[in-house]
Amino acid sequence: MKKICIIGGAGHIGLPLALKFSEKNFVVDVIDKNKRIIEKLNNSIFPFKENGGEKLLKKCQKKKKIFFHDDYKKVRSADFIIITVGTPLINNRPSLKQINDVIAKLLLYLNDKQSIILRSTIFPGATKKIYNKINKFYKKIGLSYCPERVAQGKSLDEIKKLKQIVSSNSKSEEKKILRLFKKICNDVSACSFEEAEFIKLFSNAWRYIKFAASNEFYMLSRNKGIEYKKIHKLMTDRYPRNMDMPTQGFAAGPCLPKDAVQLFLSDRLNSNLIKNSHLINERLPNFFVNDLKNKIKLKGKKIGILGTTFKSEIDDERDSLSIKLKKILTRNGAKVYCNDPYVINKDYQSIKYIKKKCDIIFIATPHLKYKKLKFDKKIVIDCWDFLSD
Ligand SMILES: NC(=O)c1ccc[n+]([C@@H]2O[C@H](COP(=O)([O-])OP(=O)(O)OC[C@H]3O[C@@H](n4cnc5c(N)ncnc54)[C@H](O)[C@@H]3O)[C@@H](O)[C@H]2O)c1
Repeated sequence: MKKICIIGGAGHIGLPLALKFSEKNFVVDVIDKNKRIIEKLNNSIFPFKENGGEKLLKKCQKKKKIFFHDDYKKVRSADFIIITVGTPLINNRPSLKQINDVIAKLLLYLNDKQSIILRSTIFPGATKKIYNKINKFYKKIGLSYCPERVAQGKSLDEIKKLKQIVSSNSKSEEKKILRLFKKICNDVSACSFEEAEFIKLFSNAWRYIKFAASNEFYMLSRNKGIEYKKIHKLMTDRYPRNMDMPTQGFAAGPCLPKDAVQLFLSDRLNSNLIKNSHLINERLPNFFVNDLKNKIKLKGKKIGILGTTFKSEIDDERDSLSIKLKKILTRNGAKVYCNDPYVINKDYQSIKYIKKKCDIIFIATPHLKYKKLKFDKKIVIDCWDFLSD
């Protein structure tokens, strides 16, 4: 069976992918620079919340089909090398720094028979740049860009169900990589590097624009003193053309805003729809705070935030708008107390404590655990309109 190395494979995208290949009997070597997480994985501890993750990890380890390392030597014997490191914005600009660091290390171990697959999200034109860099040293090596489009926390289920997009530097490489992904995905399709880059970014931008539309409608109706929840319900109820309309809420996390920014920067800031979607989505926490400030003085108030992760039922606070909300409230002189059932933070409080201590409570992330809570005599700002009626 072919061998796969996943670089950055202890992260949110790399680890589920590693497990899916390992489940299909590939021998997978996960390489990650985070020694602490590698140690956890070697002790069969799944490092973040992922449905079915820990169970599959133990199963693959028992079969001796997955191994975790913090050095790159295993790259030498791999048939496929998949790169899943982060591509965060640096100073508000898309950056290939982590990928470039990986490539610099890989160059010591590669050979011309291998295939490299980029899976991290990258800006338009980046695959070609990376290909040219590697091609200077290895003329025959294969390079593909196969973007990941799963929803964090549901990867193990979605990798199989979602169409996998494959783009490669040659037709023979494309055939090889399509064959590889067919082992773990029901449906695979090929296109060019540039098309694959746009497919990934447009997929996220489309979701982000839809959130922005709903957030804008929410702020418009609230400014007129009209309840949006009822409007949204009547708009979507048995009216198929509106059914994909999300409710208002914090559209955030390490992917959606970043991918939207990558797109409008790549178009020299001409993409007004995407740029304005970013402004609208990022404005929502300010809207809630300003609305509250019109009613009461925030200075010295004790305010609770329930939910600090960027979406429900995960443990990831990266680029969460709940955290932005906390900063805005603190800047306005409030004392803020946070709770999240999935985040371990010694400064966070229990729900009971927050209910007792605070007169104002924000439901900032719609974790199911909060759904049935009752808040007698409190000001509750239900940012997603999700509490039970
Ligand atoms: N999280 C998502 O839902 C999601 C969805 C689709 C695409 N993506 C994209 O996938 C990529 C990875 O995202 P993520 O959320 O998994 O990030 P992550 O931070 O969870 O994982 C990245 C991993 O790479 C490791 N790493 C960084 N530099 C390294 C190096 N030089 N050598 C070895 N390991 C290194 C880190 O230690 C980390 O474990 C990003 O480009 C992101 O935009 C993420």
